Amino acid sequence: MNILFIGDIMGRAGRNVIKSHLKEIQSEYQIDFTIANAENASGYAGLAKSSYDELMQAGIDFFTTGNHVWAQKEIFDYIERCDNLLRPANYPSPCPGKGYGIVRVNKIRLGIINLSGTVFMDALDNPFSVFDTLYASISNACDFLLIDFHAEATSEKIAFAYHACGRAQAVLGTHTHVQTADERIIDGMTAAITDVGMTGPADGVIGIDKDIILKSFKTKRPVRFELAQGHRQFNAVRLQVDSSFRCTKIERIYRTYP
Ligand SMILES: [Fe+2]
Ligand SMILES: [Fe+2]
Repeated sequence: MNILFIGDIMGRAGRNVIKSHLKEIQSEYQIDFTIANAENASGYAGLAKSSYDELMQAGIDFFTTGNHVWAQKEIFDYIERCDNLLRPANYPSPCPGKGYGIVRVNKIRLGIINLSGTVFMDALDNPFSVFDTLYASISNACDFLLIDFHAEATSEKIAFAYHACGRAQAVLGTHTHVQTADERIIDGMTAAITDVGMTGPADGVIGIDKDIILKSFKTKRPVRFELAQGHRQFNAVRLQVDSSFRCTKIERIYRTYP
């Protein structure tokens, strides 16, 4: 079985890449199930219901998010109705939505957990201990556990992959929007990558127009963000899963489009 996990889909540019190219990528890599981080899919932050519907229509089966999850306020109303849409599990309680899901894909009971890091990010519950508690309650219901660890610091992401090694079968980093070249299978047990990258504008600064970001850095004054124009990119990883529910290969995918 092959799972495709797509890095942060950003804005209309990212959605258009998915609409134009996902089907061909799914067919080329013989994908059985597609997961995407969609925290930036509307505008440059958040996930409006119309974007969620559009991305499902384009072939995405399951969605994770991150620190931008609440940026489009309407998600407060619809997230509870969506079985295939997560917010980080370590958000404070009570909080709408859920931080994990379990789906059946072919013969595999696939568990998906979304967690946020806390280094250079909001002071949420400790993702290491939240994972321990969650794992104890759901591990018997899953054959394969995949975690989207949405975090800024590479150290926290790598440390978490070691923490979950042998319990989760894949720990995939998101949030920085820059794909890292450290994909590996730790101790033959857990596929990991520090960041899957971003799907959206290729020519800006992590998706935003470079002149706007330069102005912000040079003047330290508030600016209004706009998506970068020009080339676009598709960033993802493909996970190969064998019949004993182990990840045997993690493969980076990095494509650019005019
Ligand atoms: Fe993001
Ligand atoms: Fe993020």
